[in-house]
Amino acid sequence: MNRKYRKTVIAGNWKMNKTPSETKEFMSAFKAILPKGRWCDVVFCVPAVCIPAAVRAVRDTRVCIGGENMNPNPSGAYTGEISASMLLDAGCKYVIIGHSERRAMGETDEDVNAKVLAALEAGLTPIMCCGESLEQRESGVTEEWISMQIKNGLKNVPEDKMRKVIIAYEPIWAIGTGRTATPEQAQEVCQGIRTVVRKLYSSKHARAISILYGGSMNEKNAAELLAQADIDGGLIGGASLVPEKFVQIIEAANPAPLQPEEEEPVEETAEA
Ligand code: PGA
Repeated sequence: MNRKYRKTVIAGNWKMNKTPSETKEFMSAFKAILPKGRWCDVVFCVPAVCIPAAVRAVRDTRVCIGGENMNPNPSGAYTGEISASMLLDAGCKYVIIGHSERRAMGETDEDVNAKVLAALEAGLTPIMCCGESLEQRESGVTEEWISMQIKNGLKNVPEDKMRKVIIAYEPIWAIGTGRTATPEQAQEVCQGIRTVVRKLYSSKHARAISILYGGSMNEKNAAELLAQADIDGGLIGGASLVPEKFVQIIEAANPAPLQPEEEEPVEETAEA
């Protein structure tokens, strides 16, 4: 992390877990144990049907809600799909784009790029995911592969909109497997991503972009991963489903003493 130059972001990815009722219960439990303080940016990306309950539950806090996917078209005959403006109007500020589980369902770099552009156009913050398979890592093409995913995903993203983009590095072999990348492995790739952004944009853009790590990040390994210079936060699946674990990860991302009550408004952790 480098809190001087860029935002630290702890984002949960609920995937296909929890109903709206369970969302409400989760948020009450989460708010009850989140100590008061000026935390880093905290986001929950939740299933579409849970968005209203989640938005309602966090409206008295600085916690934000996001979608897990979106369609790049503004509207039309796309049964079952959700547009950026729908997410925005429902109260979302973020959206995950190009998660490897969606790429496994056929999403291409071109689709990812179209979604990133549409999200930015609508005013959402895209969390654009990239990551290599175990096979790719073992055959030594990780750097090349990630660099291509980033270049393709960011195609035609104008300089001024880059400020809003977040990149998540999620090695596919580490997702949901309990097999986390070592802090050194994760750092190496995140540093490489920053170099790609520097080449595509500028040093200023590279220094300012938040790059998250995802893949079996949990309350035990978070501090070590977040201590790496180029890892600015986490995209967390399994551990974001348990309030206690997620709070511990938020705490790991905020090692400096908290400044409750002063300066800016802080979270109200009490009632729903
Ligand atoms: P995991 O998932 O933390 O359960 O490995 C991360 C992700 O897929 O975003």
